[in-house]
Amino acid sequence: MLKRLAIVGITGLAMFAGAAFASDDPISTRQNIMKSNGAEAGALFKMVKGEIEYDALTAEIALRGIFAGAVAFPTLFPEGSETGGETRASPEIWKDKAGFDAIALKLENAALAAIPAAKGGLDQLKANLGSVAENCQACHKKYRLEKN
Ligand code: HEC
Repeated sequence: MLKRLAIVGITGLAMFAGAAFASDDPISTRQNIMKSNGAEAGALFKMVKGEIEYDALTAEIALRGIFAGAVAFPTLFPEGSETGGETRASPEIWKDKAGFDAIALKLENAALAAIPAAKGGLDQLKANLGSVAENCQACHKKYRLEKN
């Protein structure tokens, strides 16, 4: 129950961050969305690996959070936010915004498609998590800078 509440709280933050997309601090807003993604994907992978107990509602909420984050995320790279705030956003984002947006849209669609399956049991979550998570790696590889 505590774990479920933790995810609900995190996801609530992501949705709040998404709603605040016009904020004057797009760098921290987009980093907060990604931190939520990390917690949400982390919870889903822990269920798949058996490190925490499968919980249908937690799985659903985590995927809804990833979905909502992906909707807002591409709006948070205005001109002038290329540097600052320890951003790891690659200059590639501004060179190829269409390619970047396309991966965000793929993540959005994959998360949405996985919701009904993920709440249908652990086996279905296992079968669907890969199609969501592959977009995390695909985007980071091309559009996120290494930690320095
Ligand atoms: C469309 C591109 C894209 C997708 C898809 C994406 N990310 Fe990211 N992610 C980024 C970028 C760009 C940053 C760096 C943002 C910055 O520092 O301004 C980042 C940063 C992060 C961070 C570090 C946040 C911080 O500042 O502490 C985590 C964790 C993360 N992503 C997890 C995920 C997970 C998990 C997924 C999949 C569910 C995902 N990301 C999907 C582009 C993406």
